[in-house]
Amino acid sequence: MANLDNDRFLRALMREPVDRTPLWMMRQAGRYLPEYRAIRAEAGSFMGLCTHPDLACEVTLQPLRRYSMDAAILFSDILTVPDALGLGLYFSEGEGPRFERPLSSGIEIEALDPHRVADELKYVMDAVALIRRELRGSVPLIGFAGSPWTLATYMVEGGGSKDFAKVKSLAFNEPALMHKLLSKLATAVAIYLSEQVRSGAQALQIFDTWGGSLSHGAFREFSLQYMSEIIEQIPRESQGRRVPIIVFTKGGGQWLGDISRCGADAVGLDWTLDIGLARAQVGDRVCLQGNMDPILLNASPDRIREEVTNILTSFGKGSGHVFNLGHGITPGINPEHVSAMVEAVVELSPAYHLDAGIA
Ligand code: CP3
Repeated sequence: MANLDNDRFLRALMREPVDRTPLWMMRQAGRYLPEYRAIRAEAGSFMGLCTHPDLACEVTLQPLRRYSMDAAILFSDILTVPDALGLGLYFSEGEGPRFERPLSSGIEIEALDPHRVADELKYVMDAVALIRRELRGSVPLIGFAGSPWTLATYMVEGGGSKDFAKVKSLAFNEPALMHKLLSKLATAVAIYLSEQVRSGAQALQIFDTWGGSLSHGAFREFSLQYMSEIIEQIPRESQGRRVPIIVFTKGGGQWLGDISRCGADAVGLDWTLDIGLARAQVGDRVCLQGNMDPILLNASPDRIREEVTNILTSFGKGSGHVFNLGHGITPGINPEHVSAMVEAVVELSPAYHLDAGIA
């Protein structure tokens, strides 16, 4: 079994006792950090960082040098999967991610070969292996992928979208074709995540960023079902230890009951939920991750500390909570404010775990 100096993140995901609430932050490596902006400028492009394992590794480690994070997350992007399937990912200034060849016909969907990800994304596996080596057992490494639905939104829309009109029209007008696409993406993501585990990832997160755009029934049919399918296919043990899986559906609070039964060990919450009520709903079925509003990092350090207290108090005593933001940190945040959040979790959370072994 690989030794870890700090395994409280993995323990909390399995609801095992911990000395304090572990934390990490979605997008913890990113543009709010001057050292990220410097290396990004040197690399010339975001994809330049992703495709060079040494740069991806360096950027992954940057936030860990500043903050007491309890996990590292692989530096990459969910859209490397559609890129590997041949859609041609690029980032245009001010517009976010775009595809040169978005999916526009059934023939193109039929032609997608999900097995391409294994070869095409070898650069990601090299980054995972290198990061694991460089972490030297300090904290666990999180691997990740996008959910099939979230990937499909970008692949059909050609980029980001406000109303998801194209991808939803496809789902409602040609459900069989939509299911074919989602099923291929589920295969690709399952292969991709399994490879990340083999390369050294110790926990996984599935980002279902746009699951919350769907209606009640459509969410189950077009998103949740495929995440369950993926989870069933991934090896859940590596080097003698469970590889926990976190599912994060932004805007999915109203479906918490169903999401907590999809086979994941933990459910990520956005900031719209009261984490205490969420805990009462899921009981001891899953760990909960979250859920501070990322924009709260724009408030004063005192206000940030107060919000950390609110979230810890709402969750209450005992294990099964991983502190995080309710979505990724935004580019303009002052890194000192992140310190305020981290320090508050480190200082205040042990009080919620004193009786953890007895409770
Ligand atoms: O969390 C981490 O630190 C790991 C790195 C990570 C990135 N993207 C780096 C990134 C992760 C986990 C992602 C996931 C991702 N990518 C998601 C799901 C999570 C979410 O935020 O909802 C989505 C929807 C994407 C797609 C994507 N990639 C978008 C919409 C953008 C543009 C954002 C923007 O503000 O321009 C990206 C680019 C991207 N991915 C950046 C980073 C650090 C910024 C690129 C840059 O440096 O210019």
